[in-house]
Amino acid sequence: MDFSDFFRHCSDTPLAPWITPLRQNLQHYVVPDRHGDYARWQAALDQLPDLTPSSVALNQAAVSAGAAGECDAQTRQQIEQALMGLHPWRKGPFDMFGVHIDTEWHSDWKWDRVIPHIQPLKNRTILDIGCGSGYHLWRMRGEGAAMTVGVDPSLLFNMQFKAIEHFIGKHPVFHLPIGIEQLPKAMRCFDTVFSMGVLYHRRSPFDHLIELRDLLRPGGELVLETLVIDGDAGQTLVPDGRYARMGNVWFIPSVPTLIQWMHKVRFKQVRCVDVSATTTKEQRSTRWMNFQSLADFLDPDDPTKTREGYPGPLRATIVAEV
Ligand SMILES: C[S@@+](CC[C@H](N)C(=O)[O-])C[C@H]1O[C@@H](n2cnc3c(N)ncnc32)[C@H](O)[C@@H]1O
Repeated sequence: MDFSDFFRHCSDTPLAPWITPLRQNLQHYVVPDRHGDYARWQAALDQLPDLTPSSVALNQAAVSAGAAGECDAQTRQQIEQALMGLHPWRKGPFDMFGVHIDTEWHSDWKWDRVIPHIQPLKNRTILDIGCGSGYHLWRMRGEGAAMTVGVDPSLLFNMQFKAIEHFIGKHPVFHLPIGIEQLPKAMRCFDTVFSMGVLYHRRSPFDHLIELRDLLRPGGELVLETLVIDGDAGQTLVPDGRYARMGNVWFIPSVPTLIQWMHKVRFKQVRCVDVSATTTKEQRSTRWMNFQSLADFLDPDDPTKTREGYPGPLRATIVAEV
């Protein structure tokens, strides 16, 4: 995999001091050929036709390049077939020359809940931990970010990002197929760090919060979005086994507990700006993600509960500074 554009761009940014360790970690950890599906995904990418869109839109619900009228039906079919080769599409939506990728998640709804409450992103250098397909990276760029970097260990999501970039074109928007643990420690160079939908997957929430804090420059802003429960300070759900069929959910705190955790690791100005229940309209099976989804993970007799009898998914957005 070629990260030369990324490193060229880094040399003029607050990431410059970190180029060598980043290069070493990417070389060491990213070995795509070891993934059994890599050749198939690469073949799907290779099928994408070369088209130059008359316009791209990064600041609307569906991140878009080109309009349906800018290519013929056969080319559109070719685009659709290639993009389908990268199923399942979880985070979006996207629209590429009229091919609408109706992803499992309405990630735009999350964005609309977050964006009114955070520092303007214009000219900022941003890191998105667990960025999935990179949908929010494009939306950050749509808000005028100087540079957005996403990390996510899923190779498929990296290929989906590349498929979208193929049509949108090169921007200072980068997707690295590594986990947070493969970033150098204490980079302290990002103006804003996002961690959305990741904390509950971490076995040690305090270590995650400390890692996030140490990625930010002094005065930088953390945008943390995670599952929470209704409850008072001190209350936390540690699911016994699965939560909504997910095997890797460790800690679901109440909002007051989460705020306490953040104060304990020295975040400042910690505030909860949104709490929303996740609905089966926001997360659902579609043609572009035809596996089971939230409706299948809730109790059919009481959809306010998960199949395992826990409270249904409730998500909070917390904003804080270092
Ligand atoms: C629930 S999704 C959230 C995606 C997106 N941030 C959002 O809020 O819509 C969690 C993402 O975290 C990624 N992830 C899992 N382990 C990770 C790690 N160690 N470092 C960074 N990302 C990770 C997963 O691959 C997945 O894409």
